[in-house]
Amino acid sequence: MPKIRFLDDALISKIAAGEVIERPSSVVKELIENSLDANAHAISVSIEDGGRARITVTDDGEGMDEEDCKLCIGRHATSKLRTQADLFSIGTLGFRGEALASIAAIADMTITSRIRSSPEATIVRVSRGQATTQKAGAPTGTEITIQSLFSHTPARKKYLKSASTEAAMVADVVTRFALFYPQHHFQLFHNNHCLLNTSPANEWIERIADLYGHDLAKGLLPVYHQQDKYTIRGFVSKPALTRQDRRCQHLAVNARWVKSKVVSDAIQTAYGRLLFHDRYPLFILQIDLPFQQVDVNVHPTKKEVRFLEEQKLCDLLVAAVSTTLQAYDLTPSTTIAADHIKPTPAAHFVPDTTRQETLSFVPEEETSFPFVIKGCIHDCFWIVEDEHGMMLVDQHAADERVNYETLASQFNTGGIAAQQLLEPVMITVPPHEVLLFSQKLPELEQFGFIVEAFGTNTLIVRSSPVVMGRQQTKDLLLDLVSELSHIETGRINEIKDNIIARMACRKSVKKGDKVEPREMYAIMKRLLRTKTPYTCPHGRPTMITLSEHDLEKKFKRCG
Ligand SMILES: Nc1ncnc2c1ncn2[C@@H]1O[C@H](COP(=O)(O)OP(=O)(O)O)[C@@H](O)[C@H]1O
Ligand SMILES: [Mg+2]
Repeated sequence: MPKIRFLDDALISKIAAGEVIERPSSVVKELIENSLDANAHAISVSIEDGGRARITVTDDGEGMDEEDCKLCIGRHATSKLRTQADLFSIGTLGFRGEALASIAAIADMTITSRIRSSPEATIVRVSRGQATTQKAGAPTGTEITIQSLFSHTPARKKYLKSASTEAAMVADVVTRFALFYPQHHFQLFHNNHCLLNTSPANEWIERIADLYGHDLAKGLLPVYHQQDKYTIRGFVSKPALTRQDRRCQHLAVNARWVKSKVVSDAIQTAYGRLLFHDRYPLFILQIDLPFQQVDVNVHPTKKEVRFLEEQKLCDLLVAAVSTTLQAYDLTPSTTIAADHIKPTPAAHFVPDTTRQETLSFVPEEETSFPFVIKGCIHDCFWIVEDEHGMMLVDQHAADERVNYETLASQFNTGGIAAQQLLEPVMITVPPHEVLLFSQKLPELEQFGFIVEAFGTNTLIVRSSPVVMGRQQTKDLLLDLVSELSHIETGRINEIKDNIIARMACRKSVKKGDKVEPREMYAIMKRLLRTKTPYTCPHGRPTMITLSEHDLEKKFKRCG
């Protein structure tokens, strides 16, 4: 008796479904792809309970006749691929004929579809693999409803997150399609509440502004480059507009949204030293190239592709983005930096040349300090003398340590001190980020932010941590949510240190800032009182000390 057996069809479908359909957002992705392949222009998505209870996608595309309605749920049933040669020249978003069969294997499905030339629509209902058909009136196009996702595969259902997290993922998918199909009308409803409604845009940048806000759109530079059948177009951010991760890097290859580390890296290379360490530019780019030059059949959910001439593409990308960056005036904008550069009246500063002036460096009322700051070099390093010798202090690292400990102690004793903003800060973000924020409001409050969701794509910041400037508030909030999005509610402690270190970093003086002597003394005094004065929260040294004895040895004054 052989040990090996052929699996039955139902089991095969479930296994295949496991690869394609991970969660509600995967269903939505597949259904929208089908609508776009059917030349739809208006696509409406409606979900209930994060998509677990129901997902409906309605389009105004070509529709299917009765025969196709019955065929489309079969495994490997597709109208998009005929021959082997077609597989290497794919121009549609779908091609495997797997999605509808996979979804039907793990949920109940109802397809209502009508082609223009037919007076009535066909309705196909599939439940536990059994299909029934009937006729009814309906507009041209297709509506597919999925109910009870994973109810026959409870093991899978367990991995789903909360309804609003799943809804945020669905919103993310719809937003991405909306981003790359600006002339299409997309709508998204969650529990009958409208999350997204984009009217067709004339210009791509209008759609971007619609989804991500005008502020962000203003920070983008257009890219256009055409060479050897490759066209690269879209937008990259000015170097001052960055994020702490790559989530705002969007790429479509032949109108298919994909992730590509190769492309991200090429763009990072084009920015070179215009970016700070660990910061990523934003981009929304569309690459069009001959279908034969790209293999789209390399990932189960089609979210990665392989380029035949990868190096050539990278070179073109670097050239395209560099040309754009060079064409614009890239002197850092003072409006962005002004928030954290503290204005310093020149008179307070010690001219490097005069020794006498150094004495006036000590603020009068502060002569009781156990150290004297002798000066500052390179707008970064302070020379400090005390009874034991001298210290060279890095102004950013020192201030960062002080701010870190202050914020950490506030956090541990009831929350970071907040100030109510006279004029609330409004931030436009896509709907999935509004959903993410909405789940994290209590956590954000602990960090001093009182934020409210307003409408589907606006956040109103009513309070922010004391001492944060308006621009810093915006930047920090966006960073915070990306940090918070990785953890479940209630597990804030795991990332609290990171967040506080980030806040401390943003609040602290930077290399190049002109720091007033009074402030230098204040920072120094507080630094020496911190629990760990010798390193910044990231572990870099705040100071280098040289004792008088060390100095004497170095100058060979003693043995
Ligand atoms: N919204 C739709 N409008 C018109 N036809 C559709 C729609 N959705 C699916 N179809 C038809 O059903 C077929 C099977 O869909 P699917 O299982 O997603 O496979 P694929 O997209 O890879 O062909 C498609 O090839 C298409 O002919
Ligand atoms: Mg498909």
